[in-house]
Amino acid sequence: MTTPIAIIGTGLAGLSAAHALLDAGQEIRLFDKSRGSGGRMASKRSEAGALDMGAQYFTARDRRFAEVVQQWLQRGWVAEWSPSLYQFQNGQLSASPDEQVRFVGTPRMSSITRALLSALPVEFNCRIVDVFRGEENWTLQDTEGRSHGPFSSVIIATPAPQATALLAAAPKLAGAAATVAMEPTWAVALAFATPLETGLEGCFVQDGPLDWLARNRSKPGRDNQPDTWVLHATSAWTRQHLDMPREQVIEHLHGAFAEMIGCAVPAPTFTLAHRWLYAKPSLAHQWGTLADVDLGLYACGDWCLSGRVEGAWLSGQEAARKLLEHRR
Ligand code: FAD
Ligand code: NAI
Repeated sequence: MTTPIAIIGTGLAGLSAAHALLDAGQEIRLFDKSRGSGGRMASKRSEAGALDMGAQYFTARDRRFAEVVQQWLQRGWVAEWSPSLYQFQNGQLSASPDEQVRFVGTPRMSSITRALLSALPVEFNCRIVDVFRGEENWTLQDTEGRSHGPFSSVIIATPAPQATALLAAAPKLAGAAATVAMEPTWAVALAFATPLETGLEGCFVQDGPLDWLARNRSKPGRDNQPDTWVLHATSAWTRQHLDMPREQVIEHLHGAFAEMIGCAVPAPTFTLAHRWLYAKPSLAHQWGTLADVDLGLYACGDWCLSGRVEGAWLSGQEAARKLLEHRR
């Protein structure tokens, strides 16, 4: 029997690495602190339907990622989303169409990671706090004091600040991860009983507290929802209001939305706020993955590349590639 490989994190990076290793005949075990998979691509189930509170859509610029997205399209996990796009700049709202192809998970963003997770061996509600190496193998320890192992290698697929602590056995890697600052994002969802009288479905915002807004039900597979909107605050506004009570965040962002959207905005029938502490790296990197192949310790995630869905998938592939290369 071979000793399995541990993967900490069931976001896209962890699942990308998992599949590359499974395809090469390796045995893996996944761990996640949350109740489900998806990380920042998770969707929140609510009385207003499933809401994409994190990643809104993704683009595929890298050839390898574009190929895998074609497979996801054929399997019905994703669809193209061609929203009626606007931008808000200098107090002006204007249509801003473009030719960019954008994808979303169907019927919710989390469908992609749910499908990738499928029946893989995973332990949820399991926050790993220590990763340590014995003479030959690795052991993980969780917040409940439980030990998991032995593992031949460990792939840490969490945001950089969470990876830093878990990389203590490889100080060089921990040092590199520690240099990555990740910016927070407040996300708010609003649902309206009567659809807002606007043709706008997505908007890049350049003024004020908002950065982006989207009509959630304009995405494929979500048309049975009430008129739901997801608003993202800028990193700067979020940093300044990190500890603001949720109700006040909703009030502020709802106010900013109502001022810019150019149509009457009634009181929402449903609201939700979510704070992403580690939403995006403040700078892109070209690392691919961080690896100590002799130790068998790896870190991957969007922060090793572009800070986007595509970067997360590519980074997971890169961690698996390095690990497999070392085993040959
Ligand atoms: P994550 O998805 O963060 O996965 C990490 C996983 O590790 C999580 O499931 C977490 O629970 C788990 N974890 C962390 N610590 C531990 C621990 N100690 N023990 C066990 N498990 C742990 N990208 C785009 O391309 N387009 C967009 O429109 C877009 N919009 C975004 C909007 C927001 C508000 C946010 C937050 C992100 C957005 N992104 C977008 C970025 C995109 O979501 C990420 O790049 C991508 O999902 C990151 O995947 P990942 O696997 O690297 O990390
Ligand atoms: P993309 O090519 O659609 O967008 C890249 C950027 O180009 C946009 O942020 C926007 O500033 C600009 N842009 C694109 N099309 C535009 C248009 N029609 N009109 C006006 N401006 C336009 O997507 P890509 O490169 O895949 O980026 C992913 C998106 O995810 C970005 O918008 C990024 O800001 C967002 N993101 C948000 C995070 C958050 O925490 N809020 C975290 C990570 C990514």
